[in-house]
Amino acid sequence: MNHKNKVAKVLSLSLCLAVSAAAATMAQAKTFKVAVGDAAGGTQHELGKKFNEVLQEKTGGKHDAKLFLNGQLGSEQDTVNDASIGTLDFSILAINNVTPFSPSVGVLTLPYMIQSLDDAITLTQGEVGQQLVENTLRDAGVRIIGWAYSGFRVLTNSKHAVTTPEDLSDVVVRVPKNAIMIDTYKAWGINPTPMAWSETFTALQQGVVDGQDNPYITVYAMKFDEVQNHVTNLRYLFSIEPLIVSEAVFQEQSPEDQQAILEAGQAATEHSAKWLVEQEARIKQELAEKGMQIADPANGEQEWIDLATSKVWPKYFDSIGGKDVLNNVLKTLGRDEI
Ligand code: MLT
Repeated sequence: MNHKNKVAKVLSLSLCLAVSAAAATMAQAKTFKVAVGDAAGGTQHELGKKFNEVLQEKTGGKHDAKLFLNGQLGSEQDTVNDASIGTLDFSILAINNVTPFSPSVGVLTLPYMIQSLDDAITLTQGEVGQQLVENTLRDAGVRIIGWAYSGFRVLTNSKHAVTTPEDLSDVVVRVPKNAIMIDTYKAWGINPTPMAWSETFTALQQGVVDGQDNPYITVYAMKFDEVQNHVTNLRYLFSIEPLIVSEAVFQEQSPEDQQAILEAGQAATEHSAKWLVEQEARIKQELAEKGMQIADPANGEQEWIDLATSKVWPKYFDSIGGKDVLNNVLKTLGRDEI
């Protein structure tokens, strides 16, 4: 073979190798499926959009994430099961719907534990959060890689103004299938109705239940103002909504892609906190303009607080890992231990 032919052969071999390397890369390119429990315009949607944007950036466009809103991929609790067995890639859901699979995250849903966005950030992004990520991985086979912050869950209903626990006596309230939240309403004197999130709008519309609680942004995104007219500004539960990835799916990724997924989750988390601050007051105002009657709980919420903390906290010391775990959380938040 003369020199010219040799060069041509080397060039064509290099081209083949380059083409097959590119083909291999493309073969690994993936559009991840992300289940989202809420409608467009909520904090879950915002977290998911940011995650997708940063994931694309970090992987040079190789991977992206497609959001399936409105519980299209199943109820929030079902999506934890699906991610756990690897038939679903990601899910964004309320933390209360993770608790049945990993009870220690219940510390984030104990009534009146989290008292501000700062508390929520301190707990989720510090050592407590890291421990909860590990516990969830161990218990449920899913890895929390991001957190959306949605604000306090306010109570809405279609019957009348509610400012005291006594006012609840004739209101049928839907709650998630979450033992801590069920017990909180029991402490306030009623038996709530546990129901999947995906069934809630229809149940409110058809009068199967009269009320529910969720943050202002969620109430707005889900158009609950069309079927609810009273709001009570309860502050018993600051809603946190993790982005979880199936551990089976995560482990199939290259170390670089795993890193990109983690970084995209962190960027989306930071974005979520800013977004909540920018949006919540505006959305509350808009709901009032649409006719929702907004009331504060009577006497600075004290009766609600006393009943919930005295009756519910002691019942969950064991499931969250013991009273020491609770005291460590209180200490982390700069509050008195019990
Ligand atoms: C629920 O009430 O089940 C959830 O908090 C709803 C949500 O994910 O927004």
